[in-house]
Amino acid sequence: MVGMTMRTRSLGTTGPQVSALGLGCMGMSALYGEADRAESIATIHAALEAGVTLLDTGDFYGMGHNELLIGEALRAAPAARREQALVSVKFGALRGPDGSWLGYDGRPAAVKNFAAYSLQRLGVDHIDVYRIARLDPDVPIEETVGAIAELVEKGYVRHIGLSEVGAGTIRRAAATAPIADLQIEYSLISRGIEDAVLPATRELGIGITAYGVLSRGLISGHFTADRQLGPGDFRARSPRFQGDNLQHNLGLVEALRKIAEQKGVSVAQIAIAWVLSRGEDIVPLVGARRRDRLTEALGALDVTLDAADLAAIEQAVPAGAAAGDRYPAAQMAHLES
Ligand SMILES: NC(=O)c1ccc[n+]([C@@H]2O[C@H](COP(=O)([O-])OP(=O)(O)OC[C@H]3O[C@@H](n4cnc5c(N)ncnc54)[C@H](OP(=O)(O)O)[C@@H]3O)[C@@H](O)[C@H]2O)c1
Repeated sequence: MVGMTMRTRSLGTTGPQVSALGLGCMGMSALYGEADRAESIATIHAALEAGVTLLDTGDFYGMGHNELLIGEALRAAPAARREQALVSVKFGALRGPDGSWLGYDGRPAAVKNFAAYSLQRLGVDHIDVYRIARLDPDVPIEETVGAIAELVEKGYVRHIGLSEVGAGTIRRAAATAPIADLQIEYSLISRGIEDAVLPATRELGIGITAYGVLSRGLISGHFTADRQLGPGDFRARSPRFQGDNLQHNLGLVEALRKIAEQKGVSVAQIAIAWVLSRGEDIVPLVGARRRDRLTEALGALDVTLDAADLAAIEQAVPAGAAAGDRYPAAQMAHLES
């Protein structure tokens, strides 16, 4: 991977130029079972070495663990790589000591408090893109975004992002301050943004950082029905990973596998390349936490999907083909999108 030239994309019309694939670091600290710390840091270093410039985290991923991990990786990286790296941070999710989810806090004083702690944990003097993870239903988006805009003015934040909000909130936020990107789930089996969200972001010049492009590993081609998921693993509760839903969804993966095999690429590469093909305004975040997975994901940048490929993929996995919601019911309630 060393020395390869990385394609770039812009995060909206006001945001920074970033690598066409970003590295999502959540799984290195939380939600997908045990992760290996040394391998996580080696994966971040390999990504930076390959030209990945966008690292995504949340202050609540392992309650600060993920930010401390990224900070450590950045300090140990060669200066040239460290200086190129942009860190995108989500805040606002409230967690209990047992890991429980207690709601969201988007009050201006809380925004500044969250940012102060993130800067300290990351060991940086500014955050490149800052966003609330979910809308706080008790705080108008104008107030939350306005507080981030104050942090931009003071130099603590460079760009403002959004996460998992609908078209109405996107418009209100964009009327308050320039918004670089919306982070939202988008994959072959999560196409909900196509109806109203994507037209709104395109009209407003807001980029998309797409997460869950492999549907949390479900459509990676590596997930099997007999995989044992620990109690802290998000997938142990995700509707798409349960019983008949899982069997159905893995059937979709087998249909994709045939296409992948014909093209001599992997299922994960087809799934990532499909998201890349949906527009220059979309930057997929890949959740690799091992170097072998990262290498596979980066290989998607070399996969060209022509019209016949896209038609075959659409036939194998039509919009709405997945069985089960993308989050458990309690978490679906926090989504506007
Ligand atoms: N804004 C939001 O609400 C939100 C929500 C969720 C995530 N995110 C962000 O988006 C990032 C990506 O999300 P995600 O981790 O759920 O996405 P993902 O890339 O769909 O899923 C990652 C999972 O896929 C598996 N996988 C298999 N092959 C892979 C490959 N070649 N490359 C990468 N992963 C592979 C990994 O499994 P193994 O490690 O077991 O191999 C890992 O468990 C997160 O890290 C986080 O930063 C944002």
